[in-house]
Amino acid sequence: MAVSNHLEQVMKLVLDNICKRFGQQLVLDSVSASLDTVHTLVLIGPSGGGKSTLLRILAGLIPPDSGCMTIDNEPVLFQEPSLRNHRRQIGTVFQAFNLFPHLSALRNITLPLIQVHGLSESDADERAHEILKRFQLEDHSRKHPAALSGGQRQRVAIARAIAIRPRLLLFDEPTSALDPEMTAEVLEMIQELRHEGRDFVLVTHQMGFARGIADQVGFLANGRIAELGSVEQVFNRPTSRECADFLTRVLKY
Ligand SMILES: Nc1ncnc2c1ncn2[C@@H]1O[C@H](COP(=O)(O)OP(=O)(O)OP(=O)(O)O)[C@@H](O)[C@H]1O
Ligand SMILES: [Mg+2]
Repeated sequence: MAVSNHLEQVMKLVLDNICKRFGQQLVLDSVSASLDTVHTLVLIGPSGGGKSTLLRILAGLIPPDSGCMTIDNEPVLFQEPSLRNHRRQIGTVFQAFNLFPHLSALRNITLPLIQVHGLSESDADERAHEILKRFQLEDHSRKHPAALSGGQRQRVAIARAIAIRPRLLLFDEPTSALDPEMTAEVLEMIQELRHEGRDFVLVTHQMGFARGIADQVGFLANGRIAELGSVEQVFNRPTSRECADFLTRVLKY
């Protein structure tokens, strides 16, 4: 089946007073946000601010302690079977170690399709080959992750996330473990996904990329979204002291 170049999906995402503690520490402190369309939401902010935790809640990997998340006006219930259904619709790519080391690139893509999404071997193979081809990864399909460059590994991980045809993609610092050249090839792939009109939430410390790709930017610090707006608003006219200080600090070098 052909992969559409322009997806029509528009996702509405509402976070309502999401709180999360780890032990005594309040990691997310009443996070609220209402996005009529996600498009490309980029989360920035200081280390330890709660970005990965928020992404893991969005992915349905951990539950919030309180608060509610709704997608297209439907609340995501953090209990089975609703949760399983939610997870199946989300593609995630994290910093590193995304792939199963003992499986080929191809098998890394087909296994979830077969085991989680119920595709037959042949349908899964067809879909995986099509995506590998599209991202110039076909020559690597039989290789195990150890035989791939870091950039190729992350591109396979992204291909795997797309293969499940997710409603939403989540990227948590997908290039932070890569050197600059490999970073570029992964960022180009993410840029391409944006042009396709896919919805995603991306956490990055690369401000240049954030500016280039974001439709909306969220600044998360101390467990709160202190700023949420367009690139122009957040980078050029931040309203919070925290965000202004953060940007001064990170843009200095
Ligand atoms: N499983 C966990 N158990 C205990 N504490 C945790 C756990 N996960 C995260 N934390 C703590 O929650 C806080 C927020 O962590 P989180 O990983 O969400 O931050 P972040 O914004 O992604 O940071 P970075 O930019 O460094 O990746 C940190 O203080 C972290 O130590
Ligand atoms: Mg993180």
